[in-house]
Amino acid sequence: MQPQLIAGNWKMNGLVSDGKALAADLLALQQGQDGVNAALLLCPPAPLLPLIGDILRDSPIQLGGQDCHAKASGAHTGDTSAQLLADIGCSHVIVGHSERRADHGESSAEVQDKAMAAMAAGLTPIICVGETEGERDAGRALAVIGDQIAQSLPDGAGPERTGFVVAYEPVWAIGTGRTATPGDVAEVHTHIFGLLSARFGAGAAQETAILYGGSVKPGNAADLLAVAHVGGALVGGASLKADDFWAIARSCAA
Ligand code: 13P
Repeated sequence: MQPQLIAGNWKMNGLVSDGKALAADLLALQQGQDGVNAALLLCPPAPLLPLIGDILRDSPIQLGGQDCHAKASGAHTGDTSAQLLADIGCSHVIVGHSERRADHGESSAEVQDKAMAAMAAGLTPIICVGETEGERDAGRALAVIGDQIAQSLPDGAGPERTGFVVAYEPVWAIGTGRTATPGDVAEVHTHIFGLLSARFGAGAAQETAILYGGSVKPGNAADLLAVAHVGGALVGGASLKADDFWAIARSCAA
């Protein structure tokens, strides 16, 4: 079994000094302690990527982007290509986060194109899905997630691996302090695992980490990370505090 992936999505937070301090603090925690059975990934704002990459160089902590464009290059002011992210040392890129789907009107078809661009550039896309509160209240959570999975995921990279990570982030749990219960998470992750198995085969599904995201904190991480088919966490607010992020990473079972 691969270790669980604990990814910090810093979103649009922090200045240069904050980012440097956070990365340096995490590096010190990582170097000073053993016993963390997790792969760690930091996704800072794009302008900080080279700087944070320099701090993390030669460490096991990986670097990721928060978004990429579907095209390799061209007249796309303000966007960043997956190739450039790979070139500056990223291993992963988040695509289809609900904040980008909502704020930038990104459709699942666009998310799929971005995921394909990321894989073509050698990156592992973290493809986000998740229902709104209204959709959950209407009993449509699994149907909405099923549609997003069907339309946002690209073809797999091979028979034994898909080459991407999926993140289940219920919109109503993001930044709200409300967390899905382990029961909610078990239901959705089992559903996603079933969809992955049906489309890509059981072997490839087994190798595809399905992260949970939405108000993951040190106090709830162990319970959430222990749920079947939870391959790690995508952490927003708590990833901005080194001690909290580290405590979440330490919650992964040995
Ligand atoms: P919070 O952990 O702040 O709820 O954010 C979750 C998230 O959106 C991570 O991508």
